[in-house]
Order: sequence, then structure tokens, then C-alpha cells
Amino acid sequence: MTDLFNIRRDFSLKTLDEADAVADPMQMFELWFHEALAAEALEPNAMNLATATPDGKPSSRIVLLKQIKPDGFVFFTNYESLKAEQLNVNNYCALNFAWHELERQVRIEGRAEKISPQESDTYFEVRPAKSKLGAWASPQSKVIPDREYLEHLILDFETRFAGKEITRPDNWGGYIVKPHLIEFWQGRKNRLHDRIRYRMMNDGWKIERLAP
Ligand SMILES: Cc1cc2nc3c(=O)[nH]c(=O)nc-3n(C[C@H](O)[C@H](O)[C@H](O)COP(=O)(O)O)c2cc1C
Repeated sequence: MTDLFNIRRDFSLKTLDEADAVADPMQMFELWFHEALAAEALEPNAMNLATATPDGKPSSRIVLLKQIKPDGFVFFTNYESLKAEQLNVNNYCALNFAWHELERQVRIEGRAEKISPQESDTYFEVRPAKSKLGAWASPQSKVIPDREYLEHLILDFETRFAGKEITRPDNWGGYIVKPHLIEFWQGRKNRLHDRIRYRMMNDGWKIERLAP
């Protein structure tokens, strides 16, 4: 058996102090995101999205952050996928970014809302043609008989859209996760990590330090 007990690494790259915490966590996120880009973090905009059924059965998967807005985090997906089915009935969700190159994690909790069809169109238009066709062809999260089934669907849509603009299918678009909690985590020596949590209160964001 692989010995995982002895896989460990101490964190010592950076520190996170209350004095570093700007008043608006979305600005703080932008700051950290730019540092992740500068550090050439692998897939810096990949985030874990956790959703749950109304009776509390969770599931999670990676999606890509495609926009940081003043009021939330935008990702795109199939509106008939498992995640969408869950968000339709329980829009509480959580996001997690792990930027190992900086020994950082950002945890977000909030509620997801569909963005407007016009906003989804704006992003869909800049996607490569093959990705656009993929959005049409893939019945995301459904059981399919085999790989060939998908490849035939792609060919069908290629024919259907030959020489035409590939418009956005109605069942594909964006969600914005509007946060009520954002935690910034910085790894420190001997597991005494820094954790700064922002919680949305009636009078704005409250900043607190949490024990590691
Ligand atoms: C790096 C990475 C990026 C991904 N980005 C997206 C994305 O932006 N949107 C999406 O729907 N699925 C994305 N996926 C696939 C999802 O993880 C997942 O398989 C899919 O959305 C179906 O999830 P569901 O059945 O829980 O709805 C990505 C996967 C990886 C590994």
C-alpha cells in the first residue's frame, strides 16, 4: 500500500495578516487571482463547485470561473446537468479554489442564480466553434450508450450549422454565485495557517480570523 502518512510539506511562502484584508472580499479575490496568474498557477480559474439536494446530499465537480463581477463569480454549464438540477431546487452552493503554487485556498459560500440570456450569449460567442458544437451535442450528466453516440451527435450538429452561425442552445448558459462568505487561507509553518473570513452582515462584510 502507498504510504500516505509520510507525505507532507510545510508551507512557508507567504503570510496573511488582518492588515492585508481589504474591505471588499471581491477586490481581495481579484488581488489573489492576479497573483495566481502571475505565479503561473495551473488552471488558476478552475474551481470546485459543491451543490446539494434539498435533503442535504452533496456532490461536487470542477468548473471554470469565467467572470469576476462586483457581486459574484460566473461559470457556464448545461442547464439540464446534475449540478443545474440541484441548483434549481437548492441554489446554496460552495466554491473552492486551490492555488498550490502560492499555498493558498479560497472558500466561497453563496447562492447561484442564472445570468441573463444576453450575458450567456456574450460568452458563448467567443467560444471556439468545436466547443459551441459540444454544448449542443452533449446531454451533460445523462447516460449515453458509447463514445460513438456523442461523435455522431457532433457530426449531426456540424451538418446542421454548416456555413451558419452557431447560436447558443437554450439549455446552456451561465450562473453567478453571489457570495455571503469568503475565506482566504494562506498556508504557514507547522500547520499554523492564516485564515481570514469575510461574512456578509446587515451592515456589510465582517472580517474575522479563524484558527487553522
Ligand atoms: C479543469 C476542468 C474544467 C471544467 N470546466 C467545466 C465548466 O466550466 N463547465 C462545466 O459544465 N463542466 C466543466 N467541467 C466538467 C465538470 O467537472 C463535470 O464533469 C460536468 O460539469 C458535469 O457535472 P454534473 O454532472 O455534476 O453536472 C470541467 C472539468 C475540469 C476537470
